[in-house]
Amino acid sequence: MEKAIEYRSLYAAALETAARAYAPYSKFRVGAALLLEDGTIVTGVNVENRSFGLTNCAERSAIYAAVSSGVRKFTAIAVATPDSDYPVSPCGACRQVLSEFMSPETPVVFGPDYKRAVHTTLGSLFPFDALHELADV
Ligand code: THU
Repeated sequence: MEKAIEYRSLYAAALETAARAYAPYSKFRVGAALLLEDGTIVTGVNVENRSFGLTNCAERSAIYAAVSSGVRKFTAIAVATPDSDYPVSPCGACRQVLSEFMSPETPVVFGPDYKRAVHTTLGSLFPFDALHELADV
């Protein structure tokens, strides 16, 4: 039987990571946690910049860290936004980047805390994904 994904602990990793966000401008901390096939978790935070457009979201920070360490396959992602009072979903740019490395069935969990977290899939957040034929990956 397939091992059930521990969404609670994946979310907990995202929340713990959010404390390391660099968000002096928005004061909106975000932590993302990617689950790898072997159970390892790779995390990322939002990193802002005084040239605002250069801000990198937590989801993309996590993906870029994982890919930089040689990982390209992900089983699930959790995103924690402790400074919101409702579940804030990954932005459009991050959905596009997640779709580069995740199948539409990949679970996505996001929320200000685990109790209020939304459980969905990348395919629900990013329908009509296309152009995977452009690269042989
Ligand atoms: N942000 C993320 O890191 N991920 C999201 O899913 C939503 C937005 C960041 C970008 C910026 O640093 C701050 O949250 C406010 O938009």
